[in-house]
Amino acid sequence: MSTDRYLTFALGKGRLADQALALLKQIGLHCEEMDDQNSRKLIFVNEEQKFRFFLAKGPDVPTYVEYGAADLGVVGKDTILEENRRVYEVLDLKFGACRMCVCGPPEAKALLQNHERIRVATKYPNIARDYFHNRKNQTVDLIKLNGSVELGPLVSLSDVIVDIVETGSTLRENGLVVLEEICPLSARLIVNQVSMQMEQERIRGLVRMLSAVVSGK
Ligand code: PRP
Repeated sequence: MSTDRYLTFALGKGRLADQALALLKQIGLHCEEMDDQNSRKLIFVNEEQKFRFFLAKGPDVPTYVEYGAADLGVVGKDTILEENRRVYEVLDLKFGACRMCVCGPPEAKALLQNHERIRVATKYPNIARDYFHNRKNQTVDLIKLNGSVELGPLVSLSDVIVDIVETGSTLRENGLVVLEEICPLSARLIVNQVSMQMEQERIRGLVRMLSAVVSGK
């Protein structure tokens, strides 16, 4: 196994980060420094095992991996679909399971069945465009938001939203429902295409170990 070079992991900050770190710890990849919750450090190095880790904004993880600034990344499938970067998606890590859905007030269901020109608010314009234009052949006006997307129909900005549904409590508490399901989502391991060739042995070893943990073997 070649250990001349550091392998770098980009991890998405936020909801998935803790579970990603816990999973890496289970295969023996860890960095003491990362346990310090108050640290503002951005890069953590494990000198012994020749690994580096950094925490980035989720949507930036595929960018770091495509350009080779990170060899590997852990990121949600939603981000992979939205960013559409040239990376290999090699493993479903199974955590962070949720669904990408079209949601809105119950009465908006008819607008989806009648192929009406509607307004769709979302943090995921590429996923929404692909779904409505290519899968449903429905012309829609997309409105990009950066969060609290459920507000869209509540304040009459949009007819429906395209957003992540995990427990469904945000929808319930705001009188909205799932109208259509677009796809299931979960955290994935992605790999830089050149690293996959150059560091094949180490990366395949990692994927094997992670896969064993994920499948409970
Ligand atoms: C996500 C998503 C929904 C909510 C779904 O938002 O956009 O709003 O979680 O989770 P639930 O089904 O368990 O209620 P997030 O908390 O990431 O924040 P955001 O609204 O700022 O995007």
